[in-house]
Amino acid sequence: MNRPSQNQGEGEIITILLVDDIPEARENIKKMIAFEPDMKVVGSAGTGREGVALAKELKPNIVIMDINMPDMDGIQATAQITQAVPTTAVIMMSVQSDQDYLQRAMLVGARFFLSKPVSMDDLYNTIRSVYTQHKQLAEQYRTMVNAGTGTMPKAVANTGTGNDDNRAGHIVIVYSPQGGAGCTTIATNLASGLMREGTRALLVDADLQFGDVGVFLNLQGQSTIVDLARSVADLDTELFDNIVVTHDSGLKVLMAPARPAEAFIVQQDPTAVATIIQKVANHYDFIVVDTGRHMDETLGALFDIASKIVLVTTPTLAGVKNVRFVLDEFDQLGYSADKTTIVLNRVPQDRNLQKFAIPTEKISKFLKRPVEVEIPQDELTALTAMSKGVLIVAQRDRSRSPVKEFMQLADTIYTKLMGEETEQEAKQQEAPRSIFGSKLFGRTN
Ligand SMILES: Nc1ncnc2c1ncn2[C@@H]1O[C@H](COP(=O)(O)OP(=O)(O)O)[C@@H](O)[C@H]1O
Ligand SMILES: [Mg+2]
Repeated sequence: MNRPSQNQGEGEIITILLVDDIPEARENIKKMIAFEPDMKVVGSAGTGREGVALAKELKPNIVIMDINMPDMDGIQATAQITQAVPTTAVIMMSVQSDQDYLQRAMLVGARFFLSKPVSMDDLYNTIRSVYTQHKQLAEQYRTMVNAGTGTMPKAVANTGTGNDDNRAGHIVIVYSPQGGAGCTTIATNLASGLMREGTRALLVDADLQFGDVGVFLNLQGQSTIVDLARSVADLDTELFDNIVVTHDSGLKVLMAPARPAEAFIVQQDPTAVATIIQKVANHYDFIVVDTGRHMDETLGALFDIASKIVLVTTPTLAGVKNVRFVLDEFDQLGYSADKTTIVLNRVPQDRNLQKFAIPTEKISKFLKRPVEVEIPQDELTALTAMSKGVLIVAQRDRSRSPVKEFMQLADTIYTKLMGEETEQEAKQQEAPRSIFGSKLFGRTN
C-alpha cells in the first residue's frame, strides 16, 4: 500500500496540514497517515482561521480541509489558502457529498473531494494523486516567483525567433455534431500540419468534459486549462506558457480538464476559453481548437471568434443531416459561407462498403457547400498513430493516403487564412465586432 506514485520522487515526503474542528477527526486521519512513510502531518488546526495562518507559515504540499467549521468555513479558508499559497493543494472533506458543495469547493481551488468517513485506501490514493498532479504546477509557480524577484533566471517563455507577440493569431475551430466523426484526429493533425518553418501553432482541447487530445498524443497527467480558470481575467503569458504542454513533435497543447467533473470550473464563465485564446492569440500564427459535439455557450463564444470553422462529417445520413442543421444555424447568425470549410472524413475505400456511403456530390448539393477535403477511411493508420501517441502527418511519406489528405487540409487552411489576412485586417478596422455576445444560445424567445 505504501508505494509512492509514479511522479513522486524517491524519498520525497508529502507534507500535510489537517484542518478540522473536531479533535478526534484530526487524530483519526493523523493515525492513518502515520502508517505511510512517504507522508507526514506537519501541523493541525481546529479552526478555518488557524488553518489559513498555519498554511501560510508551513506551506505544506497538501491541506486536508473539513467543510463545516464554526468560525470560518472550509470553503472560505480554501479560497484564502489557494490565493496566498498557490503551491499548496487542498483536499476537501465532508459528510455532504452533494454537487453544490463540490462545485463551490472546486471553484475556490480545492483539487479533490473526499466523503467522510474515508477509507485508508481512498485517503492514501487521493493524497498521492493530488500531490503528483499539483507538484508540476507548484514547481512552475516557484520558478515564476523566483524569476520575478530576480533570484533565478527568467523562465524562457517563447522559443521562436523575435516578433512573438505580433503573430496573425488565426483561430480555427474543428467541430462535428456527430460523435466519432474524427474531430480530434483532424484537429491534432491540422495543428501539426500548420506548423511550417517560422510558424507557431497551438492546439487547444476545448472538449471540456471528454477531451481526449491527451490520449491521442500521449500527454496525460500534465497541466490543464483548469489551472488557468482562476486567472482568466488577468492572464499573463508567462503563466500561460507554463501551463501549455509540448508534444514530442514540438506542437504546443493546452489540455482539457483531466476529469469531466472539472469541466464546470471552466464552463462557469462561458467566455473563458474564448477569452484565454484571444489573450494569447498574437503569440501564435494558428490556434486550432478541438471541440466536443455538445452545443453550449462556450462553443458559441468560440464559433464567434473563429476565423475558420472546419465542419467534419462522414458520408452517412445522420452525419450529413446534422451538419446541415449546424450550417443553417450559422446562416442565421450571419456567418459568411467562407467561414466554414467542410471536411468529409472516413470515406470508405472498400468497394463493398462504398455502396453504403453517400456520394460526395450528393453531400455537397444537400449542404449547398462544396466538400473541400475528403479523407479516406484507414483504420490501421489511425489506430497505429493513436497507440503510439504520434501524429498521422508526422509520417515521412506524405504522398500516401491518408497522410496526403490530412496535409491537403492543412495546406487548404494555411493558404486561405494567410491569403485572407490582409483582407480581414481591413474589414476589422472598418467594423469592430462584439466578440462574446453569441446570439446562438443567449436568446430564449
Ligand atoms: N479517416 C479515418 N480512418 C479511420 N479511422 C479514423 C479516421 N478518422 C478518425 N478515425 C478513428 O475514429 C475514432 C474517433 O475519432 P475521433 O477523432 O476521436 O472523433 P471525434 O473527436 O469526432 O469523436 C478514433 O478511433 C480515430 O482513430
Ligand atoms: Mg474528440
